[in-house]
Amino acid sequence: MSALVIRPARLEDHARVAELFLELETGDPKPDATRFANELCPSTFVAVKDGAVTAYLFAQFMKDTVYIRHVATAPSARRTGAARALFAKVKAEARARGAERICLNVKPDNTAAIALYEDEGLAFRYTSQTHRFAWSKLPSHPVAGVTGALLDPAFDAELETRFGLPSEQIATTRAIPNKVIVGIFRDGKPVGLACFDPTFPGAFPIRAVDSEVFPALLDACKAHAIEDDMNVVIEDAPDLVAWLTNAGAPPRMTFSYYAGSLQK
Ligand SMILES: CC(C)(COP(=O)(O)OP(=O)(O)OC[C@H]1O[C@@H](n2cnc3c(N)ncnc32)[C@H](O)[C@@H]1OP(=O)(O)O)[C@@H](O)C(=O)NCCC(=O)NCCS
Repeated sequence: MSALVIRPARLEDHARVAELFLELETGDPKPDATRFANELCPSTFVAVKDGAVTAYLFAQFMKDTVYIRHVATAPSARRTGAARALFAKVKAEARARGAERICLNVKPDNTAAIALYEDEGLAFRYTSQTHRFAWSKLPSHPVAGVTGALLDPAFDAELETRFGLPSEQIATTRAIPNKVIVGIFRDGKPVGLACFDPTFPGAFPIRAVDSEVFPALLDACKAHAIEDDMNVVIEDAPDLVAWLTNAGAPPRMTFSYYAGSLQK
């Protein structure tokens, strides 16, 4: 039996990682080879035991924060320290890059994952909801005085501060192929943004100052849609959840947002 090894993911890990992705039970399709190569592979680590990949962790490294997007261990390899070893590697990598915070989303009833995260020093911060809907069933709701446009990167930092997003979350998302970053403006000032991937299709993060302007943000995404299907992750915004629910798109899943410090 060989020791557990943590190494960066390679393109040839795609099939195994896609299989492990299903353990997350998000209801989303497995990442295809292109999405794996473009989005996951560059910041994914895998755990290898006896020559086989037993677990993976996909993270987004930002200026001050590392955002854990996926972590999954094969059922047969659970409770053998794979996820803990992946966390140790990613935390060390994030610290080396100057990050100070770690965060992620987890289903509130995922006791195994929550035990791991609390052990890793993360704590509950707020609730998020995912929604799925068809553009054809969601009527357009023009909002007087609010216009949508591609978001100029000059607004990124201002919007990250306004919505409490990790610094550089928009810029790091902008760097991923297929992402379309849209904003909405009132009196020339940005009042919402969405990082939309028309190929997924979905938007994350998606933030608006209130539910009044939110429909304009959805319309700004819709202008770039190539599929009728759409997914959004609404973070810490019950008014936007209520708007979508009233529009016929109730929450599909609830997540708890956990965060913690990377300082030792
Ligand atoms: C959550 C998950 C990634 C943990 O992976 P793992 O490789 O089994 O975790 P580890 O062996 O590294 O465990 C590290 C610690 O986490 C906690 N933990 C992990 N699984 C646990 C369980 N079933 N019950 C209680 N605590 C658990 C323990 O504190 C454990 O330390 P210990 O074994 O010394 O007590 C794994 O259960 C999994 O893949 N689940 C399905 C996918 C998923 O839900 N991913 C998280 C999405 S947010």
